[in-house]
Amino acid sequence: MTTADALLDRYDEVRAYTERLAAPLSPEDQTVQSMPDVSPTKWHRAHVTWFFESFVLAENESSFRQFQDQYWFLFNSYYEAVGPRYSRPLRGVISRPGAHDVGRYRSNVDDRMRDLVSGIDEGTLGKLAPTIELGFHHEQQHQELLLMDIKHVLSLNPLQPVYAGAPLRSADPGRLGWKHYDGGLVEIGHDATTEGTFCFDNELPRHQQWLEPYRLADRLVTNGEWLDFMADGGYRRAELWLSDGWAKVQGEQWRAPFYWTEHDGVWLEHTLHGTFPVDPALPVCHVSHYEADAYATWAGKRLPTEAEWEHAASLEDRSQPANLADGETWHPRAAGPGTGGLRQLFGDCWEWTSSAYLPYPGFHPAAGAIGEYNGKFMSNQMVLRGGCALTPPGHARASYRNFFPPGARWPVTGLRLADGAAA
Ligand SMILES: [Fe+2]
Repeated sequence: MTTADALLDRYDEVRAYTERLAAPLSPEDQTVQSMPDVSPTKWHRAHVTWFFESFVLAENESSFRQFQDQYWFLFNSYYEAVGPRYSRPLRGVISRPGAHDVGRYRSNVDDRMRDLVSGIDEGTLGKLAPTIELGFHHEQQHQELLLMDIKHVLSLNPLQPVYAGAPLRSADPGRLGWKHYDGGLVEIGHDATTEGTFCFDNELPRHQQWLEPYRLADRLVTNGEWLDFMADGGYRRAELWLSDGWAKVQGEQWRAPFYWTEHDGVWLEHTLHGTFPVDPALPVCHVSHYEADAYATWAGKRLPTEAEWEHAASLEDRSQPANLADGETWHPRAAGPGTGGLRQLFGDCWEWTSSAYLPYPGFHPAAGAIGEYNGKFMSNQMVLRGGCALTPPGHARASYRNFFPPGARWPVTGLRLADGAAA
């Protein structure tokens, strides 16, 4: 049973973390939108606030009034049932409200949320708690996006500004090993008995899947291995690529991962802590599904299905430390020596799977506007698993289904190889 105090403690924790992530950024940093997929930092800070105002306060505050009536138009992301929205690709031209005004909006909603939660009876709290908890996880998703987005914003600045942190010291990626799985009839989907009570609707229902015997690489593909792929003509050999991917290679002149640039024959990588020569020991990141698939083909392997990934992850020891946002590395780190388990499973890079993002058998989105959260995006996207170095702690789990279009390169995305059972 969730108590008001426990809910408010968690509320304060999640809200404060967003502000902590935005703290190194000036109001000017927080205003820029560098491409349509990227949203300004202050937009993220306001949108997650709008989520609580529209989905919790509007329906439960006794004398509800919007903080500012135009904010709902500006900060609604994609909820058709809530009303019209400002154009997404133009979020960066909104100079007012400024970052400071967004702070005032956040404080106002925080005060009203505290008043509401501490003043309602136990029965109402029980009904409201799942929506508030969804608001926490929604805000955590935007914490990760805030970091991915500002990485792109800063990448376009020739002064090469740094978000935070220091470069990772080079470390050993460790030898790549393989783990074998017998497969058979397995269950996937969120299991509240092992993963905590919260999940998004797209992780349900838990259901059976048949898996043939398979193997997974025990670590992610490294930059060094990616350099071998490039040196072997990886970006020039049509036979390695899916047709849509090859069209992207040609149309957008792909010849390396997204944040790599070549200077005097040396590949440099833009990171949140600066721009440095590519470290061959680190996992490759910011590659699209098309690139991941081409690499796997080149290596004579394939990408895992999401069912294979989840089944394998469910067997792992979760007590191992993961490279998530609380580690403040802000970047995937080297795998290190083999452990006997799957290294880099949670954190480091979101891992592309070969699975299209589709509803599980029996999936039903929630009623009302909140039903738009996940279900309506189930076309033309691929599933990623595991989390990345920018994922907030407490936001990675075996059943979590992230998704992006197959051409997306700005998220922190890498790959783990798979293949059939060893002969
Ligand atoms: Fe959102």
